[in-house]
Amino acid sequence: MVETESSLDVHAIRRHFPAIAKGRIVTNNAASTQAPKKLADLFRELSPDYENVHRGQSNASRAMTNLFEQSYDTIADFIGAKSRKNIALFRNTTEAHNAVMYSMMTEFRDGDNVVVTMMEHNSNYVPWYAMCREILPHFGVNVEYRIVNFDADTGELDLEHMASLVDRRTKFVCASGASNFFGTKNPISKIREIANSSGYVQPNGERRSYLLLDGAQLVPSTYIDVEALDVDFLSFSFHKVLAPFGIGVLYGKEHLLQSMRPFLYGGDMVASGQVGAELVLYNDLPWKFSAGTPNILGAIVSAQAFRILLDLALSPNEDVYFMTEKKIDRKDVRDAMDRITSYNRLLTSRALERISEIPGIHIYGPKDAKKRTSLVAFNVDGRSPHGLADALNEFGVESRAGCHCADLAHRELMIPASCRLSFYIYNTMEEVDTVIDILGKIVREGIYAKAPAVANALATS
Ligand code: ALA
Repeated sequence: MVETESSLDVHAIRRHFPAIAKGRIVTNNAASTQAPKKLADLFRELSPDYENVHRGQSNASRAMTNLFEQSYDTIADFIGAKSRKNIALFRNTTEAHNAVMYSMMTEFRDGDNVVVTMMEHNSNYVPWYAMCREILPHFGVNVEYRIVNFDADTGELDLEHMASLVDRRTKFVCASGASNFFGTKNPISKIREIANSSGYVQPNGERRSYLLLDGAQLVPSTYIDVEALDVDFLSFSFHKVLAPFGIGVLYGKEHLLQSMRPFLYGGDMVASGQVGAELVLYNDLPWKFSAGTPNILGAIVSAQAFRILLDLALSPNEDVYFMTEKKIDRKDVRDAMDRITSYNRLLTSRALERISEIPGIHIYGPKDAKKRTSLVAFNVDGRSPHGLADALNEFGVESRAGCHCADLAHRELMIPASCRLSFYIYNTMEEVDTVIDILGKIVREGIYAKAPAVANALATS
């Protein structure tokens, strides 16, 4: 695919987004993307038919249950999972990581370790820190966490360091598929190889470390095939894939979800009629991980976000997948996501090229857009990142300043924060130019925000 030409019909795509119609310049997409009108409408349209799932005999309950269950199928099909049994729905990526940690915690043996990376989002580090430092020691189990370095110049993981940290006691390797600060797309197959060669003996006899891949920054813009990647667990949030309705996903290999403990205990995660004073049996997958009344409409509408993403990438003026019965075709997923990757790369190349002209700029992460997702984090000599973000906001440009929850990486670089621009399918090349022209003006003319946002001044991560 030619990288100088748009692989998406962006002008048709933009017509779907009320935020764009309002004139907003949204370049904080690594935090949260905007919802297309059709998804917001769908949420409203489903409301009169709302009923609980698995908990009622009405037509409304049966219909809602069907839609809810089908949403698991759509998600599984989109990421190449075998079936809905591989999918657990939570509120966000953070909760998905906590689910893995809490559900697997009792499998850890004294002397085990977990390997994480210095570019992890807090959500894939703090749970492991807490397990090792605060929880397991209370039960006399000592488990160590080990942190893989990165190269400060390139923003790439030090895989030799990773290989040196992974050993026969490494139960888990936890790594982000792409950094939300550097933008680096990590070499998943190499990380998998390292985890495979550990020799750790899992309870089921498998001899390798489990790989938990944080896909929060990867899934929105990259073709994912969980079988080909051979990840044990993959997490992501729909609020970064067009659907801010409170749904995060955990993919897990079926035998692992089957054998691990539930995360939350209570209603519907138990087998029907199998709760007694002496014994409680758990429900079949995926409902074992769906305790209590779930976010029903959130799940249904979020799964449709994958369908609308296919339409936006492949046929933005037509509903081929959105709210249709069409089975998800993996070839279409590949085509759509490759187009999105390619377009994001175009935006990122342009941003990297233009932003480097700004005096005093420090750009973090790989120089080559091919190695990145569509974000650029930076600092400017003599300017606070929060001040820059506030000034950008006064010119109508939405960015983010802070540690972006990548606190480990910021501390390692000894910077308190950075400013970040992040792009998605509705941003145009012209917008990238406008944003960077404005940033250049703010820096060159020493412009400060008249009303810095108090919340921003306080925000650190
Ligand atoms: N972790 C999200 C971000 O990168 C919220 O901004």
